[in-house]
Amino acid sequence: MVMEALVCRKLGDPTVPLSDATPISVSRSHPVPELTSPTAVRIRVRATSLNYANYLQILGKYQEKPPLPFIPGSDYSGVVDSVGDRVSRFKVGDKVCSFASLGSFAEFIVAEEKDLLLVPDGCDLVAAGALPVAFGTSHVALVHRAQLKPGQVLLVLGAAGGVGLSAVQIGKVCGAVVIAVARGEPKVRFLQSMGVDHVVDLGKGNVIESVKHFLKARGLKGVDVLYDPVGGKLTKESMKLLNWGAQILVIGFASGEVPVIPANIALVKNWTVHGLYWGSYNIHQPHVLKDSLMQLLSWLSKGLITIQISHTYSLSEANLAFTAIKERKAIGKVMVVIGNSSAGRSKL
Ligand SMILES: NC(=O)c1ccc[n+]([C@@H]2O[C@H](COP(=O)([O-])OP(=O)(O)OC[C@H]3O[C@@H](n4cnc5c(N)ncnc54)[C@H](OP(=O)(O)O)[C@@H]3O)[C@@H](O)[C@H]2O)c1
Repeated sequence: MVMEALVCRKLGDPTVPLSDATPISVSRSHPVPELTSPTAVRIRVRATSLNYANYLQILGKYQEKPPLPFIPGSDYSGVVDSVGDRVSRFKVGDKVCSFASLGSFAEFIVAEEKDLLLVPDGCDLVAAGALPVAFGTSHVALVHRAQLKPGQVLLVLGAAGGVGLSAVQIGKVCGAVVIAVARGEPKVRFLQSMGVDHVVDLGKGNVIESVKHFLKARGLKGVDVLYDPVGGKLTKESMKLLNWGAQILVIGFASGEVPVIPANIALVKNWTVHGLYWGSYNIHQPHVLKDSLMQLLSWLSKGLITIQISHTYSLSEANLAFTAIKERKAIGKVMVVIGNSSAGRSKL
């Protein structure tokens, strides 16, 4: 049996129009993966989300460098297609979501039963494919690590991106005062519509002044938790806003620049710096990750969080999906939807 899959055969720019000579191309004769154990499940993939890490991995700039060729992709949703002899929790036809280190940009993927989550009735299956990495990262960071409390001030950088927008929403669920930083009017307007307490437009004026003005008006001293998927100059600026005893969540470096957090200032101000690599929880503390995803699915089914899908493409349009990420066009998640020609194009 063969399937369609996006294959990375050489490292390079995934945004160029696809051909046999480009770093990524669509193979229509890739072998369908077999069940690898009695507890394995094969899933017909419905949707897979793009994460910044997928883009970096094809460029060869991510910390994990798989051998070539590989099928990229991490989080996905779909329908159970076949199950191993000892699978007890899932049956053919169940709606599931999960994440893998590779392989979700394909019609089928195989996972171990223990790594799958049932998508509750009422949750959109395409949206569920965008939940694990972005919302999982922000939930573990804000709830498990920082233990964000009601009334605390949360500053989210890159707030309209995949992880940023999930952090904003989880911050609101936790009862925090949420300040969001993003670039450009459409992103600012969208964040305001999400009920964010204050939005700073990076394209207009000074982050520090804008946040200080807001804090003063609200009678607040400073920022308690900094959620940082951007790095670089913006981190340096944001540190000027942090309270005594603040926490810094180091999530990523979308700016391309790893920031320096001075240990002497961390000492004097009693800051806690959390490095957070979500995927590694699956190796070291898998129960934390699983409990977190179950809570998120329950929040999703109750409407406490929503998944904003910014752009939707098919597998053969994957270069356009990566372009949306590269050009910072996305508000929320960019998705690749498989097996439905009426999936439609970008909503923006
Ligand atoms: N630690 C973990 O386990 C973990 C998990 C998931 C993601 N991450 C990391 O988090 C970061 C964001 O991931 P994501 O999937 O949310 O990406 P994304 O959807 O592309 O969002 C990134 C945001 O960063 C901002 N940005 C600032 N400077 C940028 C630049 N030079 N190029 C691109 N974007 C820039 C953009 O906002 P504006 O245009 O509004 O400025 C954009 O909305 C990445 O570094 C990723 O590797 C880490």
